[in-house]
Amino acid sequence: MGVLKRYGTYLPISEKTPKVNLEEGSTPLVRLDRIGDELGIELWAKLEGCNPSGSFKDRGMVLAVAKALEDGAKALVCASTGNTSASAAAYAAHVGVPCYVLLPSGKVALGKLAQALIYGARVIAVDGNFDRALELARQASEAKGLAMVNSVNPYRIISQKTGAWEICESLGRAPDLHVIPVGNAGNISAYWAGYKDFKSRGGIKDLPKMIGIQAEGAAPLATGKPCPNPETIATAIRIGNPVSAKTAISAVAESGGLFDTVTDDEILKAQKNLASRAGVFAEPASCATLAGLVKLAQAKKLPQGAKAVIVLTGNGLKDPDTAIAQAETPVKIGDTFEELLEALS
Ligand code: F0G
Repeated sequence: MGVLKRYGTYLPISEKTPKVNLEEGSTPLVRLDRIGDELGIELWAKLEGCNPSGSFKDRGMVLAVAKALEDGAKALVCASTGNTSASAAAYAAHVGVPCYVLLPSGKVALGKLAQALIYGARVIAVDGNFDRALELARQASEAKGLAMVNSVNPYRIISQKTGAWEICESLGRAPDLHVIPVGNAGNISAYWAGYKDFKSRGGIKDLPKMIGIQAEGAAPLATGKPCPNPETIATAIRIGNPVSAKTAISAVAESGGLFDTVTDDEILKAQKNLASRAGVFAEPASCATLAGLVKLAQAKKLPQGAKAVIVLTGNGLKDPDTAIAQAETPVKIGDTFEELLEALS
C-alpha cells in the first residue's frame, strides 16, 4: 500500500503532504534455510530489490519527494553511485518534476544508468568519485534552489526506518543480528533508529546487534581510517567519506555490534551462493552481508542458532555485467535433437 499509507501515523506528514506512492516498501522477508543451516543460524533476507526502482532507496525517496513538493520544490538533485539516482529519477517522473543526477563517470552499474536515463533524469557524469559528486550536488542545491534528495535529506533516513518496522512485524521480534552493507552509512543509521522506535512503541523487547559490512577497498568505518580513493567491484558502496559516519558508529557501538570488511572475491562468492543456492539474485553490495556472515562463521565468531537478517539492498539485475563475468557461459548447440541430448547429458 506504499510507505506513506502503511506508516503515515509514524511519519512527519500532514494533510498538506502530497500522497506520493509507487507502492514501495512491504518487501518480502525470506528464510534461507540451505545457507542458514550451513552457517548454523536462522537466516532471513529482506529483499529490498523488490521495491519499484529495485532498491531500498525508494523507502526514503517517497517521503523526501513528498516533502520537497510540499515545500514548493521545482526540481530535484542528487549525487549517486546509481541506486539513489534511479530512485530519484523514478519519483521525479511519477510526480512530474525535473531531476538532475550526478554520477561518478564510468563507475555506475549498467542497469542503474539505464534507469536514470529512461525515467528521464538529466544525467551528469562527473570525472571524480561519489564523494566529490556529492559535494558538487550540495553546491548545486544551494546555488540553484534544487531539492537535495541524498540521505543528507533527513526525510530519507526517517522513512528508511520503515524497513526495520517491517522486519519486526514479520518476525514478531527483532533479529539477534542485523547485517547490512555500509556505504554512505545512511541505511544502517536508519535501521538502528527504526528498531529503537519500535522498542519504544512497545513492539519489541530486545534490540539487534548491528553488523555493518564494507568492501575492503572502501572501508573508512571498518578500518577507522579515511579512504580518499575507494575502490571495489561493489560500486554501490564505493564511498570513502560517509556522510552519516557518526550515527553509524554510534549505532554499532550502542548495539554491541561491529563493522567488518570483505574482499571483492568474497562478495562475488556470496552473490553466486545466494543466487544458486537460495534463488535470490542481489547486486554485489548487498551480497557483502552474506560474505560478512561467512567470514564471522569461519572465525568462529557467529553465535550458533542466532536469528540473523541480511538486508539485500538492491536487485541483481541492476548489474548484469558483474554477474555474467563470473558465470558459466551458455552451452551452444546447433538445432538438432541429437545435439540437445548431448548437451543435456
Ligand atoms: N546497498 C546498495 C545497493 C546501495 O545502493 C547503497 C548506497 C548501499 C547499500 C549503502 O547504503 O549509503 O545508506 O550506507 N547507495 C547510494 C547511492 C550511495 O547513491 O545509490 P548507505
